[in-house]
Amino acid sequence: MKTIAVLSCAILALSGQPRAVNAQEYVAGMFSDFGMGIQQVHLAQGKDYSTMVVSWLTAYEAPTIIRYGTKLRKLDMTATSTDVVQYTAFNTTSGYIHHVPLRDLKPSTTYYYLIGETTNQDGSASIRYFTTLPKVGKRIKNFQLAVAADIGQTNDSLLTIDHLLQDPDPAMLLLAGDTSYADCDPQRWDTFFNFMQPFAEQRPMMTLAGNHEIEFDNTTGVATGFQAYINRYRMPEVRPTEINCPFEFTDFCAPSVYFSCYDYGNAYYSFDAATVHVIMLSSYTYINESTPQYNWLVKDLASVNRRKTPWVVVMTHSPMYNSNQAHQNEAQSIAMKAAIEPLLMQYKVNIVIAGHVHAYERTYPVYQNVVDYKDGITYIVAGDAANREGHASEYISPIPSWSAVRNGTQYGHGKMTFHNDRRMTWAWYRNLDGEKILRDEIKICNTAKGLPVSCGKINAKRTKLSKFNPGRALAPDLHSTEPVEATTATKAVKA
Ligand SMILES: [Fe+2]
Repeated sequence: MKTIAVLSCAILALSGQPRAVNAQEYVAGMFSDFGMGIQQVHLAQGKDYSTMVVSWLTAYEAPTIIRYGTKLRKLDMTATSTDVVQYTAFNTTSGYIHHVPLRDLKPSTTYYYLIGETTNQDGSASIRYFTTLPKVGKRIKNFQLAVAADIGQTNDSLLTIDHLLQDPDPAMLLLAGDTSYADCDPQRWDTFFNFMQPFAEQRPMMTLAGNHEIEFDNTTGVATGFQAYINRYRMPEVRPTEINCPFEFTDFCAPSVYFSCYDYGNAYYSFDAATVHVIMLSSYTYINESTPQYNWLVKDLASVNRRKTPWVVVMTHSPMYNSNQAHQNEAQSIAMKAAIEPLLMQYKVNIVIAGHVHAYERTYPVYQNVVDYKDGITYIVAGDAANREGHASEYISPIPSWSAVRNGTQYGHGKMTFHNDRRMTWAWYRNLDGEKILRDEIKICNTAKGLPVSCGKINAKRTKLSKFNPGRALAPDLHSTEPVEATTATKAVKA
């Protein structure tokens, strides 16, 4: 089996005094090879190419500062932030989670960044890099976005991440919820973000709330939920998090069926990537008519300029179309489908992707359970990235007329390739004996441009590689042993 690249070196320079908190002790102990430095580095895309949020965790208080620039040896810009959070859940207080937005970035540009104020104790520097998205509306042939859900942190998850890393073309990973499978064990959030770091320090990881992010907590007598999800991710929020009604008690950490009033923040949001408008929804926030999530969605869909972003992708956790026996007809799926399917049709959404079911499924273009090749929408279940709960292999019978492909026995991930304004390809790759195997591929035509929906299946016809390769190695050795020259901040950005 191929193995994933080793974790990037962390920086040793720290300040502040140790505090006797469980999670910190754990983190410090586990990563003793790297000292008690910077870890769990991950990127989040802003509303468009111009903002990237860099997040990381330190076990102790440490500077919240990024030095960055477009040249490896000249990090001439500085960004700081006051967004440093610790949270307490399940009687454990997290490490210090730093979130620094880098703003006013140029499109399609590689930036090198250094976290913290100083180089490592041995004089070396851990410089990372990312490439910003193309300008909104910029036509990039074969622009790509990777997709996964229910990823967890198993050996099979590792294989999925390895396949994502090997592919330099997708600009980011769209992760449709159920990320860490921490399941109310706070330390597993730390291991998850270190697990994802090789990919997420280089390309954004855009996620949404799955039921494993709920983590209902009543240990303090004040019922809370989504604490790790709210504090550890920084998605491009519509407005700050609102909890608009009390959390309802449940005996389960990650209840499969749940509704809450967790609004805004990381719960639901949208952003633009070149010619694609991506909408992330929360399955576990009320979405019936007149709720904040519904009202926001209507407004967001109405505001999309299809001449700039001809493609609209909607993602959520709990699938609206699912023929697996697992999570069949769950309440939040039924509620979301009833509330928004007509809206998605009205605004000519191109593809809807979910997770939750640990299997892969693709529908024919469909509307209200009836296959409609002319106007229907393709729905995907991609909850097969691998996690410790295993496969969902039992399906309902007979096969619904709208179900085109289903697989409940192999793990994998998906990829969208936007060829131009009119054509995109959805592809699913399964993990098989360590190799990435193309198993399903479908061409989708853009109904917003007045074209028929189905272009037919294009068996084994591979798409050309994109010229936009944000994951391709850009420098021979970013973790240089040479000290980075001290730079003078020419531009200060405060959150
Ligand atoms: Fe789930």
